[in-house]
Amino acid sequence: MKYRRLGSSGILVSPICLGTMTYGSPVRENEAVKLTHAAIDLGINFIDTANVYEGYSRVLGSPGGVAEEILGKALRGKREKVILATKVGGPNGPGPQDVGMSVTTILNALEASLKRLATDYVDLYIIHWPDKHTPLETTLSAMETIYRQGKIRAFGVSNHMAYQLCEFLWLADKYGWPKVVSSQIPFSLLKRDFQNDLEFCVDHDIAVTPYQVLQGGLLTGKYKSGKPVPNGSRLDESPGWLSYPLVPLLDQMDATESLAGEAALTLPQYSVAWSLAQPAMASLIVGVKSLAQLEVAVEGAKASIPAEILVKQDAITPPPYRHRAPFSRPHQN
Ligand SMILES: NC(=O)c1ccc[n+]([C@@H]2O[C@H](COP(=O)([O-])OP(=O)(O)OC[C@H]3O[C@@H](n4cnc5c(N)ncnc54)[C@H](OP(=O)(O)O)[C@@H]3O)[C@@H](O)[C@H]2O)c1
Repeated sequence: MKYRRLGSSGILVSPICLGTMTYGSPVRENEAVKLTHAAIDLGINFIDTANVYEGYSRVLGSPGGVAEEILGKALRGKREKVILATKVGGPNGPGPQDVGMSVTTILNALEASLKRLATDYVDLYIIHWPDKHTPLETTLSAMETIYRQGKIRAFGVSNHMAYQLCEFLWLADKYGWPKVVSSQIPFSLLKRDFQNDLEFCVDHDIAVTPYQVLQGGLLTGKYKSGKPVPNGSRLDESPGWLSYPLVPLLDQMDATESLAGEAALTLPQYSVAWSLAQPAMASLIVGVKSLAQLEVAVEGAKASIPAEILVKQDAITPPPYRHRAPFSRPHQN
């Protein structure tokens, strides 16, 4: 496994990160524990969870905590082997302090996560979503407090745009507070909205750790136009988790699958390799239901895609428009 830097934290992480959003259901506790151990045995040292995760049972505002509890059991005796990330800010109860990024919510949520995870520190604490009701200074002052207490080793954000990352960096400079080290965004070869933000992350040493790189399973080739939905797939078990207009995407995927063939890769391997070839990528968070699915992701992380195929991919699933200077200047060092 070739490890990559997690931005300015200096922490080294595997290019595949184990996602745990399905821990509880459909991945039951026993299976989840085995899967976590198998991932560690494969060389995966990075695990992503959140205080709200409880598998397909989740509804907005339900208490969460299921995935963290399972991980707490799975990591007994193995805690030091992994870089553990969890998140705060998503709604996990009906109360006014059960959502958002106030100091009260963060401090309470962290204590609850540490208890469930059966650990006294989190390696990477992630702000799950922007909270427009709390000034960034307030949120960052809480991050600084728990960082100084040694309860978190670094902090990152999720679902934030580049201008919001910029505000975090600016405030960290202003007050001497810890810098944001990672950005977790939805990103895949089918969903490239954040593409233009990646260069900002390169320039400011922010690690990108995208989620849904397999687009919930669409990018594995298991769904085909005119063919029945496979039994036991996400579209079969929890269609709400795959709310994309499938038909146009299926056409793009057929074309993408042919390109994967040119690179001598399967579609899921190719999708993983494509994402890892993008700027600022540190580790891809993949959701899996079995060891076999995890092994596919790990194989994809070892592959590389020739430049001419990457160009052909841009014609099938183009990047978002980007305004560029109509000239270039030589560097002046
Ligand atoms: N920060 C956020 O807001 C946020 C949001 C969403 C997710 N996440 C993180 O990202 C992780 C991944 O998200 P995700 O599970 O939605 O997306 P994903 O990784 O794109 O999709 C995972 C699903 O694809 C299918 N799959 C995976 N590998 C496969 C293979 N080799 N062959 C066939 N099918 C395969 C499996 O579903 P089936 O076998 O059931 O079809 C699996 O559950 C989560 O666990 C979580 O840690 C973060």
